[in-house]
Amino acid sequence: MTENTIKTVKVKDITNECKGVKTIYFNMKEGNQGRYNIPKAGQFVMVWVPGVDEVPMSLSSYDDKGNWAITVKDVGECTNAIHNLKIGDFIGIRGPLGNNFILPNDSSKKLILIGGGIGMAPLKCLSLEIMRKNSKFTIIEGAKIGEEIMFINDFQSLDHEYSEIIYSTDDGSYGLKGFASETFESLVKNYSKSEIHNLTAYTCGPEKMIFKVFQICERYSIKLQASLERIMRCGCGLCGLCAVDPLGLLVCKDGPVFDSKNLRQMDDFGKYKRDFSGKKIPLD
Ligand SMILES: Cc1cc2nc3c(=O)[nH]c(=O)nc-3n(C[C@H](O)[C@H](O)[C@H](O)COP(=O)(O)OP(=O)(O)OC[C@H]3O[C@@H](n4cnc5c(N)ncnc54)[C@H](O)[C@@H]3O)c2cc1C
Ligand code: FES
Repeated sequence: MTENTIKTVKVKDITNECKGVKTIYFNMKEGNQGRYNIPKAGQFVMVWVPGVDEVPMSLSSYDDKGNWAITVKDVGECTNAIHNLKIGDFIGIRGPLGNNFILPNDSSKKLILIGGGIGMAPLKCLSLEIMRKNSKFTIIEGAKIGEEIMFINDFQSLDHEYSEIIYSTDDGSYGLKGFASETFESLVKNYSKSEIHNLTAYTCGPEKMIFKVFQICERYSIKLQASLERIMRCGCGLCGLCAVDPLGLLVCKDGPVFDSKNLRQMDDFGKYKRDFSGKKIPLD
């Protein structure tokens, strides 16, 4: 069974994360003769809602029993159909697809995860993977307003000997006031040279935020891995819709996670994306 075979799975559970965002839980072992590929944090799946569409979604969690989850923001036709699913409904899952975040082999390295909005979904998955390795990490979760902060309970239950969670909102209604990128920079400013040298940053969220995080990392020579979003159709390297200029890297196959070396060479990074017809649209 390849990662491109659609597996039909039953919705096991649904939770509300915040207004307009739900997590959908399903089990990949059931109904697939127990065969599926084990995912890694940063990978995504194509979610097919029968009669509607198929859309890319990062995994927000997985375990060794085949329980996977996606966390979905209701922005259009297919995500709205996902929000209307009930426990017991069937969806199609293709994946895990794409590459993944890479953790350093040395568990003494300090890791920092900077996420904005729905970009927290793959970072939550990464935080669970880091916990299993007993590395120390900091999460900076940014949102426009306090009501849009997600995963508070999940992050509260992480082992605080290893993890530090910082919330920041644009209007200061929850946690610190300011953008996640600003919170990241003020944190880095207080680190010593050797602490900065020991740091790897991981980010996902609105591309303007990712771009600011990238600029900070460049200034301080911090290694960065960023998960990017592009409009996708096939999700498996066939249609070319998700290509980034000028390298021709495919977000669905060579990404969605890219390191600083690749980010430096991308013309469109932080500037524009393409719509379904391939037309360039400046980022808001
Ligand atoms: C690798 C990857 C991982 C993603 N992970 C998540 C996730 O964990 N949770 C989540 O809620 N969303 C995620 N997305 C975005 C999600 O795929 C889109 O929101 C979804 O495809 C919109 O479909 P729709 O039919 O509901 O909206 P449409 O009616 O098609 O469009 C509504 C709006 O969403 C925009 N949009 C459509 N497709 C995409 C896309 N692929 N990327 C960005 N914007 C898009 C459109 O331009 C439009 O503005 C991810 C996208 C990618 C590429
Ligand atoms: S979505 Fe078709 S090549 Fe990436």
